Amino acid sequence: MGFDINKIREDFPILSRKVNGYPFVYLDNAATSQKPKIVIDSIVDYYSNYNSNIHRGVHSVSQEATDGYESARQTIQTHFNAKYSHEIIFTSGTTHSINLVANGFESLLNSGDEIIISGLEHHSNIVPWQMMCEKNGAIIKVIPMNENGELNLSVFEKLLCEKTKLVFVNHISNALGIINPVKKIIKKAHEFGAVVLIDGAQASSHFKTDLQDLDADFYTTSAHKLCGPTGVGMLYGKEKWLKKMPPYQGGGEMISTVTFEKTTYADLPHKFEAGTPNIAGVIGFGEAVNYLNKIGFDDIENHESSLLDYATKKLKTIPNIKIYGDSLNKTSVISFNIGEIHAYDIGSILDKFGIAVRTGQHCAQPIMDYYNISGTVRVSFSFYNTIEEIDHLYKSLLQAISMLS
Ligand code: ALA
Repeated sequence: MGFDINKIREDFPILSRKVNGYPFVYLDNAATSQKPKIVIDSIVDYYSNYNSNIHRGVHSVSQEATDGYESARQTIQTHFNAKYSHEIIFTSGTTHSINLVANGFESLLNSGDEIIISGLEHHSNIVPWQMMCEKNGAIIKVIPMNENGELNLSVFEKLLCEKTKLVFVNHISNALGIINPVKKIIKKAHEFGAVVLIDGAQASSHFKTDLQDLDADFYTTSAHKLCGPTGVGMLYGKEKWLKKMPPYQGGGEMISTVTFEKTTYADLPHKFEAGTPNIAGVIGFGEAVNYLNKIGFDDIENHESSLLDYATKKLKTIPNIKIYGDSLNKTSVISFNIGEIHAYDIGSILDKFGIAVRTGQHCAQPIMDYYNISGTVRVSFSFYNTIEEIDHLYKSLLQAISMLS
């Protein structure tokens, strides 16, 4: 059928709205993606036609809701090629997933054990480990980044030792768009027996990841980054680690038997899904994954890479622009500053022209500290963006510069 950008844009109701009198140009996709009607409809359909609690009722509608929820788990298992569907745990998103693992490893590590994180992490892959280390005395080591926004792998190899128990790296840096060499990192970490968690929040919307091939012990993502709803995400964990970790939250659904003396826990995946989950969100997540697969990840990658090339060339013609993380191995994100102009001022003027971008630290303060800046303007493209939108961005940036200089 081919990649028909106009037809794809019709799937997204929000893309036809105006902002400040201009057509809405949404270039903040790394913060959250827009939602196609088919995903929105799946949520309306659930609440309109088969809203019920799951795994509990003998009644027909509860069974329909359970089928919808569990079929989303299978869709996601197939999409990520996990070995078992019970290795997919539904969470409220990547932050929840990482906190779940940090909580699980609190009692599995000893004082003096070492964990390695990368210098490119989002705060959500830094703070939970610091909180864990305060409790169990483990020590955090950091893989440094270089000027291009790439990780220094030779330092990583030197940091690895028999004390290394865990390694955490994001698949793609949210602030710069750099794709990290996670397969290589996982292989090296495994040579030292370390467990590896990959934060895939920024990757899943851009390409397909085969979890069995990648061999990560844990992998996380958030549905809202890949055209799904907010408040729902996934933690993938290898069965053996999910079995070893204690539950995160106690409550209904995650138990097998409860007496006042002792509780036994349910099997995977329910052990980690306490309470009534975000049923509508999970159903929407499954629908979003189906939608993206229908568009096709080869076409998504090709289109986004053309947008990135075009925009990078165009933006580089702007005097005094500095692009951070100008590596070849990146997804469709451009993080930049122009001369001494504050990122926030540029973002505010772009908004007047209907263009949405993110400005600031992007929840990655250590990266900003590395470059000794207070923040950047970040434009992030999705498969539904167009070359015309980049032209509008370029012209609006020139206007912003003339207003602010
Ligand atoms: N992590 C999201 C971002 O990068 C919110 O903007």
